[in-house]
Amino acid sequence: MPRRSAPQPPNGPAATAPQRECLAQALALHLPDIPAEVPGGSASALLPVLHHIQDALGFVPPALVPEIAAALSLSRAEVHGVVTYYHHFRSAPAGRHVVQICQAEACRANGAVALMAHASARLACAPGHTRADGAVTLEPVYCLGLCATGPAAMVDDRLRARVSAATVDDWAARFERSAS
Ligand code: FES
Repeated sequence: MPRRSAPQPPNGPAATAPQRECLAQALALHLPDIPAEVPGGSASALLPVLHHIQDALGFVPPALVPEIAAALSLSRAEVHGVVTYYHHFRSAPAGRHVVQICQAEACRANGAVALMAHASARLACAPGHTRADGAVTLEPVYCLGLCATGPAAMVDDRLRARVSAATVDDWAARFERSAS
């Protein structure tokens, strides 16, 4: 049976100078001092490098994937696979407001699935996407550490417990006020 090949990252525009500078800083900070002949040595820096870039730029530009891969002796598909596997990493800039709603087990038992559906309708934004006007990004996340007081959410980096549909309506109204 033929081997299935790993999904390939899409081709896109070249990395910008600030994005390359960010990668250079990430590599200087996180590339471990391991001789190149140690198998997999530099690959251990992949997650710290991705976190550094995401923290600095707000996303991991697809244009940097080949450069990260080359620097860490990985394939583009391996780097792309890690970026797309972890929900934490974004491949595009987030909206002005970021709403993350926990979809892990304990929160699901407290209505997190219906809450996500309500948020998607109220915010006019599909889960895992950014609204076309750039106002809101809505993301599923998997455990925010508030399992006993779910459904839990994080809104613009603030943790929220016992979130209800009314809470989501309040956020939507606040976002609309801040845009006007
Ligand atoms: S399961 Fe939702 S916060 Fe832990």
